[in-house]
Amino acid sequence: MATHILTFHRGQALNKLTRRRASLVVSASSSSDKQVVLVCQNKECKQRGARRTLKCALALAETLNVQVEEQDCFGDCAMGPNISVNEKMFYGCKTPDKIAAAFATVEGIDADAVDEARTAYENSLQ
Ligand code: FES
Repeated sequence: MATHILTFHRGQALNKLTRRRASLVVSASSSSDKQVVLVCQNKECKQRGARRTLKCALALAETLNVQVEEQDCFGDCAMGPNISVNEKMFYGCKTPDKIAAAFATVEGIDADAVDEARTAYENSLQ
Protein backbone atom coordinates (compact mmCIF):
# COMPACT_ATOMS: atom_id res chain seq x y z
CA MET A 1 0.00 0.00 0.00
CA ALA A 2 1.41 3.40 -0.96
CA THR A 3 2.00 5.95 1.76
CA HIS A 4 2.23 9.66 1.02
CA ILE A 5 3.85 11.96 3.57
CA LEU A 6 4.38 15.68 3.09
CA THR A 7 7.49 17.12 4.72
CA PHE A 8 8.65 20.72 4.79
CA HIS A 9 12.13 22.12 4.78
CA ARG A 10 13.40 23.88 7.91
CA GLY A 11 12.54 27.56 8.20
CA GLN A 12 9.94 27.64 5.47
CA ALA A 13 6.53 29.12 6.09
CA LEU A 14 3.61 26.90 5.21
CA ASN A 15 2.29 29.08 2.41
CA LYS A 16 1.01 27.92 -0.99
CA LEU A 17 4.47 28.11 -2.61
CA THR A 18 6.00 26.06 0.17
CA ARG A 19 3.26 23.50 -0.11
CA ARG A 20 4.07 23.12 -3.81
CA ARG A 21 7.75 22.68 -3.01
CA ALA A 22 7.18 20.32 -0.14
CA SER A 23 8.94 17.03 -0.37
CA LEU A 24 6.59 14.24 -1.27
CA VAL A 25 7.71 10.99 0.25
CA VAL A 26 6.35 7.95 -1.48
CA SER A 27 6.94 4.49 -0.16
CA ALA A 28 5.53 1.09 -0.92
CA SER A 29 5.10 0.24 2.75
CA SER A 30 5.49 1.80 6.15
CA SER A 31 9.03 0.43 6.57
CA SER A 32 11.46 3.17 7.57
CA ASP A 33 14.63 1.27 6.68
CA LYS A 34 14.30 1.91 2.95
CA GLN A 35 17.04 3.74 1.14
CA VAL A 36 16.03 7.02 -0.43
CA VAL A 37 16.34 8.12 -4.04
CA LEU A 38 16.03 11.90 -4.33
CA VAL A 39 14.63 13.31 -7.58
CA CYS A 40 14.92 17.05 -8.18
CA GLN A 41 11.60 18.67 -9.01
CA ASN A 42 12.70 22.28 -9.05
CA LYS A 43 12.06 24.56 -12.03
CA GLU A 44 15.18 23.98 -14.13
CA CYS A 45 15.15 20.21 -13.77
CA LYS A 46 11.44 20.21 -14.59
CA GLN A 47 12.18 22.18 -17.76
CA ARG A 48 14.57 19.37 -18.69
CA GLY A 49 12.06 16.58 -18.08
CA ALA A 50 12.20 15.90 -14.34
CA ARG A 51 8.49 15.09 -14.21
CA ARG A 52 9.09 12.10 -16.50
CA THR A 53 12.14 11.23 -14.39
CA LEU A 54 10.01 11.19 -11.25
CA LYS A 55 7.31 9.10 -12.94
CA CYS A 56 9.91 6.50 -13.92
CA ALA A 57 11.56 6.60 -10.47
CA LEU A 58 8.21 6.02 -8.76
CA ALA A 59 7.49 3.09 -11.08
CA LEU A 60 10.87 1.52 -10.31
CA ALA A 61 10.40 2.13 -6.59
CA GLU A 62 7.08 0.30 -6.65
CA THR A 63 8.80 -3.00 -7.36
CA LEU A 64 12.05 -2.34 -5.49
CA ASN A 65 12.40 -1.72 -1.76
CA VAL A 66 13.26 1.93 -2.29
CA GLN A 67 11.73 5.23 -1.22
CA VAL A 68 11.53 8.15 -3.67
CA GLU A 69 11.47 11.75 -2.48
CA GLU A 70 11.12 14.95 -4.44
CA GLN A 71 14.04 17.33 -3.91
CA ASP A 72 13.90 21.12 -4.27
CA CYS A 73 17.31 21.61 -5.88
CA PHE A 74 20.79 20.09 -5.70
CA GLY A 75 22.48 23.19 -7.12
CA ASP A 76 23.54 21.44 -10.32
CA CYS A 77 20.62 22.78 -12.30
CA ALA A 78 22.27 22.98 -15.73
CA MET A 79 22.88 19.23 -15.70
CA GLY A 80 19.34 18.16 -14.80
CA PRO A 81 17.19 16.33 -14.39
CA ASN A 82 19.20 15.19 -11.39
CA ILE A 83 18.94 12.28 -8.97
CA SER A 84 20.88 11.62 -5.80
CA VAL A 85 21.42 8.25 -4.12
CA ASN A 86 23.39 8.15 -0.87
CA GLU A 87 24.80 11.62 -1.66
CA LYS A 88 26.08 10.47 -5.06
CA MET A 89 24.75 12.59 -7.91
CA PHE A 90 23.40 11.30 -11.21
CA TYR A 91 23.04 13.98 -13.84
CA GLY A 92 20.90 14.18 -16.96
CA CYS A 93 18.57 11.39 -15.84
CA LYS A 94 16.16 11.60 -18.76
CA THR A 95 15.96 7.97 -19.79
CA PRO A 96 14.87 4.83 -17.94
CA ASP A 97 18.41 3.48 -18.48
CA LYS A 98 19.99 6.41 -16.63
CA ILE A 99 17.37 6.39 -13.90
CA ALA A 100 17.80 2.64 -13.43
CA ALA A 101 21.58 3.17 -13.24
CA ALA A 102 21.00 5.45 -10.26
CA PHE A 103 18.72 2.88 -8.62
CA ALA A 104 21.35 0.19 -9.20
CA THR A 105 23.65 2.01 -6.76
CA VAL A 106 21.21 1.65 -3.89
CA GLU A 107 22.97 -0.44 -1.26
CA GLY A 108 21.91 -4.08 -1.30
CA ILE A 109 19.71 -3.76 -4.37
CA ASP A 110 19.62 -6.59 -6.86
CA ALA A 111 20.82 -5.45 -10.29
CA ASP A 112 18.58 -7.97 -12.06
CA ALA A 113 15.56 -6.67 -10.16
CA VAL A 114 16.41 -3.13 -11.27
CA ASP A 115 16.71 -4.34 -14.86
CA GLU A 116 13.35 -6.11 -14.66
CA ALA A 117 11.69 -3.03 -13.16
CA ARG A 118 13.16 -0.84 -15.90
CA THR A 119 11.98 -3.22 -18.62
CA ALA A 120 8.49 -3.38 -17.10
CA TYR A 121 8.37 0.43 -16.99
CA GLU A 122 9.52 0.73 -20.61
CA ASN A 123 6.93 -1.84 -21.69
CA SER A 124 4.22 0.11 -19.86
CA LEU A 125 5.00 3.12 -22.05
CA GLN A 126 4.28 1.26 -25.29
S1 FES B 1 16.72 22.58 -10.43
FE1 FES B 1 17.37 20.51 -10.24
S2 FES B 1 19.38 20.69 -9.43
FE2 FES B 1 18.62 22.71 -9.43
